[in-house]
Amino acid sequence: MSTHEKQEDKVLIFDTTLRDGEQAAGATMTIDQKVEVAHQLDRLGVDIIEAGFPISSPGELAAVQRIAKEVRRPIIAALSHANKNAVDAAWESLKGAARPRIHIFLSTSEIHMYHQLHKDRETILGMACEAVARARTYVSDVEFSPMDATRSDPEYLYRLLEAVIDSGAGTLNIPDTVGYTSPEEFYKLIRGIFDNVRNISKARISVHCHNDLGMAVANSLAAVRAGARQVECTINGIGERAGNASLEEVVMALKTRADTYGVGTAVDTTQLTRASRLVSEHTGFAVQPNKAIVGKNAFRHASGIHQDGMLKERTTYEIMDPITVGLSGSSLVLGKLSGRHAFQRRLVELGYPLEGDVLAKAFERFKEVAEKKKEVSDLDLLALMADQRRAVADAYSLESVHVVCGTDTTPSATVRLAGPDGKSRESRATGTGPVDAAYKAIDKVVGVDATLDEFTIQSITEGIDAIGDVMVRVVSEGMTYVGRGSATDIIVASAKAYVNALNRLIANKDTQQASQGAKVGP
Ligand code: KIV
Ligand code: ZN
Repeated sequence: MSTHEKQEDKVLIFDTTLRDGEQAAGATMTIDQKVEVAHQLDRLGVDIIEAGFPISSPGELAAVQRIAKEVRRPIIAALSHANKNAVDAAWESLKGAARPRIHIFLSTSEIHMYHQLHKDRETILGMACEAVARARTYVSDVEFSPMDATRSDPEYLYRLLEAVIDSGAGTLNIPDTVGYTSPEEFYKLIRGIFDNVRNISKARISVHCHNDLGMAVANSLAAVRAGARQVECTINGIGERAGNASLEEVVMALKTRADTYGVGTAVDTTQLTRASRLVSEHTGFAVQPNKAIVGKNAFRHASGIHQDGMLKERTTYEIMDPITVGLSGSSLVLGKLSGRHAFQRRLVELGYPLEGDVLAKAFERFKEVAEKKKEVSDLDLLALMADQRRAVADAYSLESVHVVCGTDTTPSATVRLAGPDGKSRESRATGTGPVDAAYKAIDKVVGVDATLDEFTIQSITEGIDAIGDVMVRVVSEGMTYVGRGSATDIIVASAKAYVNALNRLIANKDTQQASQGAKVGP
């Protein structure tokens, strides 16, 4: 092992939710949403936030600029092609950052070099060095990624890595771009880099694994065992195609199996659940119930034997304490008799320190839910907070919806919405079902041209009185807008979600937010 490697007992967490994660088909976020996620990543304690790919669109550049200005503790990285314009755009976006990093990537596999870039090895090596050197004229912190590294010729890779270190790269990120490698193979590759790159002691090795074969986390952990000290990952594992290594899984594996890995991270794991929910909310990507760490079932015990064991001793069937990932361990149950003080205290515990009018409004909504549900869980409260945040930002808001439906009647709906001017507008429509009728009635009021592309509903908790969480995607002029809504009544939740999506569409049209536009991904 090199000296550099021996000294480090910490793995840096490089979060790329806002870049690779947002690159996933249909995961587009607005600038405000990206900034909100960046603040949560800051609270989570990640070391580096990759905020975007500035050359890809003006909106992307603006998002990185805002994050760089507002989020001061972590390093803010911007992705760049290995060319002058892209490096300059990355720097333009990072000028205001407290700790800027330019991250340059260029393919090094034969497949990519010859079929995609139509360039030979020497040209690629020259381009990589030139781009790194240019980035170094702007910032002292430069990362280089040989794209498709796991399908590259290792001997060529070593030579190229040596050259980019000489040109000033301090972090060498080894991407498994297409999710092709396996833990054993990746371990060997990382060891090979330590053993064969002459000047490796001057750089930190990072890894960036995709999940096409479901091995992104396992591969990342194998790399850590081999000496990598930065892992690139995303919240909920979102990302291009099958996604990236999931941050919460990597972090909790390192924490729970410290006996195997012997290295920790600086992540405040109690913020994981909140980060997961926020990203799911803003991208519209639901988290699968059985998802490790943050799935709804991750800490639920269904079978009798397991429940019996849990009642006797938690560790019989739990390898992690749910409190460590941000699920409350409090025994205080909120319900319709709970007072404002208890409600406020629980919100603070969940990371929502509300006061004044906002607290009063939230308490009012909590009481409405508590009237319908016997117990209001933390998950219900998080849904309530998300719903309130949407309502505050919305131009149109749902005042009421009434539906008539059944076996022998044509479904119809009457909706009343408050418009941007605060005035109420009412409309009625019929449809193939109650949701369809409600959406048609909403269309009549809002008057924008949009097509419903996806509709999903899931319950936040179990039971007949559970809060329903609806996610819709609507498409208008080739762009997709996600909307969410939650309520104990699924028709109300559905109407809220649709209005939320239309509000986003309207906001985008109004401000012409270029971040919603087509981007040129890496
Ligand atoms: O998967 C990949 O290779 C990437 C690079 C840009 C690091 O995302
Ligand atoms: Zn990637």
